This record gives sequence, C-alpha cells and structure tokens, in this order.
Amino acid sequence: PTALAGRHFLKELDFTEAEFRGLVELAAELKAAKKAGTETPYLRGRNIALIFEKTSTRTRCAFEVAAADQGAHTTYLEPSGSQIGHKESVRDTARVLGRMYDAIEYRGDSQAKVEELAAYAGVPVYNGLTDDWHPTQMLADVLTMTEHCAKPLGDIAFAYLGDARFNMGNSYLVTGALLGMDVRIVAPKSYWPAPEVLDRARALAGSSGAPITLTEDITEGVRGADFVATDVWVSMGEPKEVWAERITALAPYAVTMDVLRATGNPDVRFLHCLPAFHDLGTEVGRQIHDAYGLTSLEVTDEVFESAHSVVFDEAENRLHTIKAVLVATLARETLA
Ligand code: CP
Ligand code: NVA
Repeated sequence: PTALAGRHFLKELDFTEAEFRGLVELAAELKAAKKAGTETPYLRGRNIALIFEKTSTRTRCAFEVAAADQGAHTTYLEPSGSQIGHKESVRDTARVLGRMYDAIEYRGDSQAKVEELAAYAGVPVYNGLTDDWHPTQMLADVLTMTEHCAKPLGDIAFAYLGDARFNMGNSYLVTGALLGMDVRIVAPKSYWPAPEVLDRARALAGSSGAPITLTEDITEGVRGADFVATDVWVSMGEPKEVWAERITALAPYAVTMDVLRATGNPDVRFLHCLPAFHDLGTEVGRQIHDAYGLTSLEVTDEVFESAHSVVFDEAENRLHTIKAVLVATLARETLA
C-alpha cells in the first residue's frame, strides 16, 4: 500500500505539499506507463461508485477509463439515477455504498455533502467537484504546468482571470499557495475568493513562501506569468439570471490575445478546465449570443485555438491524475 492508502480526496487543504506533489509525480509515471504499454493494473477486483448530481464529460470519463485501465469496475449513478439526497439521506447512502464498493466518487453542489459521505462511507471518497473545490482538476492542471514549463514547480507563475469565488478560483488559490507557486487572482474585487479561503491560502503561503497577488489590474496581474487560466463565468447550478451581471463585470477579464501579450512571455500557455464558451457554438452559447451579441465569453476563439492553448493536454491529464488518486488510495500491492 502507498502512503495515501485509504485516504479520502476531498479538498487540497487536506494534503501536505509533499503528498500533493507525490500524486502529480505518480500521475506522470502512470501516464508514461500507459503510453509505453507497460501499465500495471493495481486495482483488479476493486469496485468504485461514481455519484454525479451534476453533469460531467471529463471527470466521469476519466474515472471510468482510469478504473478500467487499472482493472477496477465502476458504477455510474447519473444526476437523477440514485436515491441520494432525494429519498435517502447522504449518510444512509454512504453506509450502503460503503458496504458494496471500495471507493466512492461524488460530484454535486455542497462540500458538506461530500464530507458527510466521507464521514460515513468507511471507504475512500473522492470529490469530483463541488461548488467550493475542484481538487482532481488541480492535479491535472499542475501536471500540465510541469509538462509545459521547464521551471521548478515553485517558480511557476500563473494568473487566474474570472469569477474567483467558486470552485476553480478557490482551488487555484489554495493549490498555488500549497505548492509555493506565484499565484495571481485577477478579477473585480467582488469576485475574489471569500475571506476564509484567502486566510487559508495565506497561512499555506506563510510556510511555502508562495507570493499571492489579488488584483483588479490585468496588466499587473498577468505580467511575467507562465500560465493564464480562466473558467466559465456561470457555473453549474447557478441560475441563468446571473449572466447579465457576470458579463458586465467580467467582460474586461476575458482572455484575449492582448491579455496573453501583456504577460510579456512569448511562451505563455493558456489553461481552461473546460467546458469553455469560446465560439458560442453550443445551445447555451447561442442563447447568450442572441441576448448579448457576444461571440465569445471568458476566452476568445483565437486564444483557445492558438499554439498557446494546452487545454486538451489538460483534459487528457484528468485521466492520468484521477488514476493516480485511485492507485494511491486503493492499491493493495506496493507500487513497482
Ligand atoms: N473540467 C471538468 O470537470 O469537466 P467535466 O464537467 O466535463 O467533468
Ligand atoms: N466552475 C465550473 C467548473 C466546471 C468544471 C462549474 O462548476 O460549472
């Protein structure tokens, strides 16, 4: 068993810098082994329940493929596909699934729910996204950063532009702080992470030495950045009425080629957890286009399709990093 055997994966704050880095390193090894065709299945006979109370493409598929590659079986419980939270309490569902499965993934709105599942399941529970945190995404983003920047992790600078009060903004702030990175949150002040999140990040930065910047000034915020990241302006579960206020407040923070140029770094890379609104060729996108006359939202199509964009490497890395979480927490054998 590994050092993380039996552990939950609920939020970045639960891990030390060494543990978090260890997961990223394990993911890189698992990725190389898969590419070389030498992957060892450490999870034969394991069963993993995947509870999704919100929809997903990447996270669900990453868990399913990672489990299959490792010899484990998954059961997908779609947003309306189980009794959880409707006809049965979270703690009862946790105790039932914990009797049948070796681990449980949960995606939904509240962090309290995934923490409650973890408290009652008796098996490792993984956070596949809540309104507060998206920790598996952070592993993928950090792996992607290490692949696209030759600097030591602690020297990498990244700027996150957009709504920083939700899962992605919170997770970027604490992950960067945990790993000693140069983290910049670039957004209108009212879109900065909550004071409690900022306090936790500042405490981590106190030991890791991470410089943390929160600024409304785009030029200052992105200067010298190795990576520029953003996320959708309206997250899953938010009502469509908030679009108007988000577009007004966040339009200046859209990632354009001018923003990338303002970094002064010709090798700057663009990150986005996806799904993204860059060409508005989607159902929601067309509604936004018709209502507001825009052709893109948080990132322009030009940036998204440019050589700076590493979003599909980032998406692929969801697989390898989620696999690392499964192997680290569930493998019976000592890793080769
Ligand atoms: N980035 C991410 O979590 O994507 P999905 O919503 O498709 O899982
Ligand atoms: N902030 C987005 C992230 C999607 C992966 C959401 O919660 O919808």
